[in-house]
Amino acid sequence: MIRIAIDGPGGAGKSSLAKAVAKELGIVYLDTGALYRTIGLYMLNSGIDPKDEVAVTAKLPELDLKLTFTDGKQHILLDGVDVGDTIRTPEVSMAASAVSAIGSVREYLLNTQRNIARTSSVIMDGRDIGTVIIPDAEVKIFLTASAEARAKRRFAELTLKGVETTYEQVYREMVERDKNDSTRELAPCVPAKDAILLDNSKLTEEKTLKKVLSIIRKVRKKKSGSGVYMFFHRLLAPFLRFLFKIKVVGVENIPTDGGFLLCSNHIAKRDVVLIGACCPRPIKFIAKKELMMIPILSSLFKALGAIGIDRGGNDIGAIRKSIDIITDGNIVAIFPQGHRYPKVDPATTPVRNGAGLIAYRSGADVIPVFIKTEGNKYRLFKQVEVIFGKPISNDELGFENGGNNEYMAATEHIFGKVVELGGYSLPSKNEPSTDGGAE
Ligand code: DC
Repeated sequence: MIRIAIDGPGGAGKSSLAKAVAKELGIVYLDTGALYRTIGLYMLNSGIDPKDEVAVTAKLPELDLKLTFTDGKQHILLDGVDVGDTIRTPEVSMAASAVSAIGSVREYLLNTQRNIARTSSVIMDGRDIGTVIIPDAEVKIFLTASAEARAKRRFAELTLKGVETTYEQVYREMVERDKNDSTRELAPCVPAKDAILLDNSKLTEEKTLKKVLSIIRKVRKKKSGSGVYMFFHRLLAPFLRFLFKIKVVGVENIPTDGGFLLCSNHIAKRDVVLIGACCPRPIKFIAKKELMMIPILSSLFKALGAIGIDRGGNDIGAIRKSIDIITDGNIVAIFPQGHRYPKVDPATTPVRNGAGLIAYRSGADVIPVFIKTEGNKYRLFKQVEVIFGKPISNDELGFENGGNNEYMAATEHIFGKVVELGGYSLPSKNEPSTDGGAE
């Protein structure tokens, strides 16, 4: 999971930036200013002065505000009706600024905002996201620009929308709103101590986005421990590939960025080391919990970021962890067979539904991998091929509503692609599969 807080004064370009980042990372975007704007609009419609703390507080219990997301787009319903652009007028901007200084209003919106950050990876923009709403956000950016630059942008935006105003008026209101928002007693608009300050007065939207994505990438890299992994990878991988006589095929099929699930056939414990030595990006392996208890090896698995799974039942914790790792932009590897099957035609072995389940829940693509050896067994000094196949898109897995049958069918489809890379093909459905030779 990743939580990104974008705070800063109005007109700094927070919402365009947050929208673009959300699209790029496939996470939820919450525009918190829209919530305050809706309350401002409601008070204006009700004939209440947005600055009147007592009247606003007394009216709040009657407020019927619902926040929904359709296709990742936020909608706010006021009395069941989508507020749309009616909250974007200069009058509502001033009302929003006024109600946002009232304690009962901030209290009212607190849990709505926090609940979203608790359940999903999210980017939120506002004034107090990094200081109050998600103080432990992984990335905090305070985006700002000179009042002139911001007023110019806001004026262009309003003109485009057909709102009649002048640059001078927009500038005046912007300065007044800045003052209200940054000097109020409650949750003032100030950078969090650990926020990164970004002044984009002279930056284009594209440049700002590029800078922020690079900040996020660095934070994720640090969080996933991939720096340490890659240090050892660079040191050891060439040696391991030489030692095990590995030929790597299809490495260009590994995307340079973004999370996905990697699925491989399973011959022996060594598979983990071989795949790790051939993949140019860090991988977290899903391995049975027992492996994490073997002395020495367990430390290696932990250092490699292995995810221990209880093979006995549905290990929801491990599945969830894997999904989080993928949605955070990393690679998780799983052996769909669940067991090691040396000396057995892999195409005749059964699979479990875990790979399909993770693909469904993460929405990620899958990369098939085949470890090709003579007789499906490792032999000393014999060449091994590690073959990476083309990504299988999530759409190709044919999910509709999820469920065990769909996960199983998806895993079989994936495993069919895995064995195909080794020149095998799955038996047709009516041939019984064998479980013989499992280790
Ligand atoms: O970002 P915006 O212009 O849509 O915000 C409207 C007003 O809401 C702004 O003047 C300050 C207030 N606000 C706030 O106090 N806290 C937030 N997290 C977001 C907005």
